[in-house]
Amino acid sequence: MEKATIQCIDCGRAHSPGALYRCECGGLLEVVPNMEYLRENVSCGLFDSRLRLRNPPYGSGVWRFRELVHPFAGDEDIVSRPEGNTNLYRHKKVSSYTVIDDICLKHEGENPTGSFKDRGMTVGMSEAKRLGMKQVACASTGNTSASMAAYASMAGLKPIVFIPDGEIAFGKLSQALAYGAQVIQIKGNFDDAMSLVQESSNALGIYLLNSINPWRVEGQKSIMFELIQQFSWESPDWVIVPAGNLGNTSAFGKALFEMKELGFIEKIPKIAAIQATGANPFYSMWAKKAGELPAVQHPKTIATAIKIGNPVSWKKAMKAIKYTKGLVEEVTDQEIMDAKAMIDASGIGCEPASAASVAGAKKLREKGAIDKKDRVVCIITGNILKDPDATINYHLGRLEHIKSTYGNKPVVIEPNLGSVKKVLSISS
Ligand code: F0G
Repeated sequence: MEKATIQCIDCGRAHSPGALYRCECGGLLEVVPNMEYLRENVSCGLFDSRLRLRNPPYGSGVWRFRELVHPFAGDEDIVSRPEGNTNLYRHKKVSSYTVIDDICLKHEGENPTGSFKDRGMTVGMSEAKRLGMKQVACASTGNTSASMAAYASMAGLKPIVFIPDGEIAFGKLSQALAYGAQVIQIKGNFDDAMSLVQESSNALGIYLLNSINPWRVEGQKSIMFELIQQFSWESPDWVIVPAGNLGNTSAFGKALFEMKELGFIEKIPKIAAIQATGANPFYSMWAKKAGELPAVQHPKTIATAIKIGNPVSWKKAMKAIKYTKGLVEEVTDQEIMDAKAMIDASGIGCEPASAASVAGAKKLREKGAIDKKDRVVCIITGNILKDPDATINYHLGRLEHIKSTYGNKPVVIEPNLGSVKKVLSISS
């Protein structure tokens, strides 16, 4: 029995596994699991029993769901740090900020390289190894490159990253350099880097590890599997996710579809994908009910991770939004940075793009789309240390066009107790 097949999302044509990302018709490829195989081989009980295991591969929050993420990877193929097993956080500051009683944050910044990308990367890199590839490449706004560099170096493959020159946060660039990637800075934006990496990979026989690679999407499904397992296989009402290249949105819809088909869940949570107003092609498409994506030529946002004008996976993502009866929203940079300040001040912390989820939750609550009593999960996609410049400049009031609504400035004092007392408002 074939455990899974690879098919074109447009014409349905089947393809054999290999270094292929698009069908001859131009459509994206996806992994289609054999539901009969899955029904016979997996259950919620099986995945719960693996929670006790700490060793590879099942100690990973991705490979715990092995049959659902890569049913034909052998133990010897698997490249894992291990990833996943990220925590859920609740905090009254976040609840009162969004006016949602039951809101929690799933912190994907707790992954080994500090973002959710590690979940797709472990599966994509394992496939690269299985295929015997020697070099791997990606275009990136930073986190994918950090993740790919780490996993490739662990596996002994050569990582090559294409990044927009001067537009990625320093924490991410430093990771790519340190993990040993060949870093190619493109004089252009992420969308230019994405076109060039596709052309270069095809021409030079390099394995492409962007989320256009169907195995990356398979790995990212594990965020939903793990989340629903953390809720004892009961769905929340909403899952809110920052949206850039739309890999996560696509993966979440696919994961929920598969869990519903397998009878793991009754109810399908609604997905809300949140974009930054300056990089909002998916939101525009949704708002205008357009049939095609209206690409944004010059995307602009402080959340550089989602500064993307022409996301590749828009068709898969729209399918996910429609399947879950979800929606797409946009938030301003001001809303993103204020929501980030709230998440940070709760002791949880995140990079700017991640805060789009909480900013989106607040906005959707204000608009009445989300009810005060709904159970809401926001996906926090990246670690606070990824972009310290954005955080510091917000608190010091140095960001152009953004007010430091919840700024927390340091003070400089003379080195004596009197000055300390003054700062702490203690009378002598
Ligand atoms: N949040 C963070 C922190 C990201 O790094 C990204 C994407 C997103 C959200 C958006 O996720 O693309 O699945 O819709 N970063 C990619 C990168 C593009 O290259 O690191 P998406």
